[in-house]
Amino acid sequence: MKKLTIKDLYKDYKSFENKQVSLEGWIRTVRDSKTFGFIELNDGSYFKNIQIVISDKLDNFKDLVKLTISSSIKVTGTLVITENSKQPFEIQATNIEVFNLSDSDYPLQKKRHTFEYLRTVAHLRPRTNTFNAIFRIRSVAAFAIHEYFQNNGYVYVHTPIITCADCEGSAEMFKLTTMDLEKPLPKNEDGTTDFSNDLFGKEAYITGSGQLHGETFAASFGKIYTFGPTLRSENSNTKTHANEFWMIEPEISFCDLEQLMDIEEDCLKYIVEKVLERCPEEINFCDQFIEKGLKEKLNKLLNSSFVRIDHKDVIDILKKADRKWEFEPDYGEDLAKEHEKYITEYFNGPVFVKNWPKDIKSYYMKLNSDGKTVAAVDLEVPGAGEIMGGSQREEDYDTLVKLMEAKGIKTEPLWWYLDLRRYGSNVHSGFGLGFERLLMYLTGMENIRDVIPYPRTPKNCEF
Ligand code: 4AD
Ligand code: MG
Repeated sequence: MKKLTIKDLYKDYKSFENKQVSLEGWIRTVRDSKTFGFIELNDGSYFKNIQIVISDKLDNFKDLVKLTISSSIKVTGTLVITENSKQPFEIQATNIEVFNLSDSDYPLQKKRHTFEYLRTVAHLRPRTNTFNAIFRIRSVAAFAIHEYFQNNGYVYVHTPIITCADCEGSAEMFKLTTMDLEKPLPKNEDGTTDFSNDLFGKEAYITGSGQLHGETFAASFGKIYTFGPTLRSENSNTKTHANEFWMIEPEISFCDLEQLMDIEEDCLKYIVEKVLERCPEEINFCDQFIEKGLKEKLNKLLNSSFVRIDHKDVIDILKKADRKWEFEPDYGEDLAKEHEKYITEYFNGPVFVKNWPKDIKSYYMKLNSDGKTVAAVDLEVPGAGEIMGGSQREEDYDTLVKLMEAKGIKTEPLWWYLDLRRYGSNVHSGFGLGFERLLMYLTGMENIRDVIPYPRTPKNCEF
């Protein structure tokens, strides 16, 4: 038989009125007076706790009032409706079994802890209200993403984690080797490392994007997506970069840049809608304690259409802004954090920035007819900055080879990627949605370290 949970009771407490129920869970707080007391119990099934009333009629009452926070117990008792008090019902305990009395030095005592401190107890922080909310939203958002793509006819592809293909720059990929690093590494004549006797017989990496493999499947299924871990070795100590993050990468055949933006917008709205619908308690909590106005922001997004603007026009706006920049905006340059912030505040919502200078973007992006810009698009949102990065792909064989050569990308290892331009090439596009950046936007959390269960960032690999 399925065990009863606190969520079941909240959903339908009236049908349990005056009935005996049993619950297993952890103590959040205990309050007591001489002859009776209250235990706030949580079993993880629901954001809210349940109130357990204990009285000195219980044999072990003296031990119960000494129960520590996070002790695990089993409660049996009668559900009583208490419509006029803070919670609509409570359990009057008839028996309480203690499984484990939590040590009294439990690090999460009932007071406010800083997020920095909570990172040092990442194994315990899911037990706090904040992280309970964040990680349930993470789970619900992940499901909504799969649902969106599955409902719309996309095929889910598991692209490899181990790869020899360079998508976003090999300098940012973790190298993978089974060679003994305690011994001198074998060298080629030109002084570079000789990988011929390594496990794969050549230099291998951990993937920084599934896009290239995704494109091969899109050329068969029409529409595909990936959703998996992505690793980048960049030494960026910022609030929006992690060395391990999750990325969703859809790839769509017969789709140009404008159609891609339609899909990005539709997808983001679907996720926001489902999270609002399925995590009301968690979103209310985030709205109250993490980002004031969060709910209004998310609801507004559902009813807006996102601005679409060329990179050069963004630079115009930035240059006209009456303020000093740490990094001067420039037509040939990437947007700095301060620029992203300004532009999303300027338009008061998400902004698609499109048609970027080709020199600062990846080799596979479609070269525009001006010969200077590529059909790339980044979606910028307030707070998290760039949450989606995508483009129309260069579908012409010769142009792609030229773009690769200009950027010093070796064509030989990517022969199979180039093949797509020889067999049924078509106008196709795709994007990458950074899952953690999305979660920052959905919850209002300001640091990527606080939306990943066990964040991996420079100098940080505890747990
Ligand atoms: O813009 P990026 O590098 O694009 C790609 O990887 C393409 N291959 C995607 C594609 O077109 N299929 O990364 C995509 C998104 C970014 O917009 C950002 O949200 C997120 O991934 N991202 C990171 N998130 C956390 N930490 C990092 N270090 C990230 N780098 C990128
Ligand atoms: Mg990008």
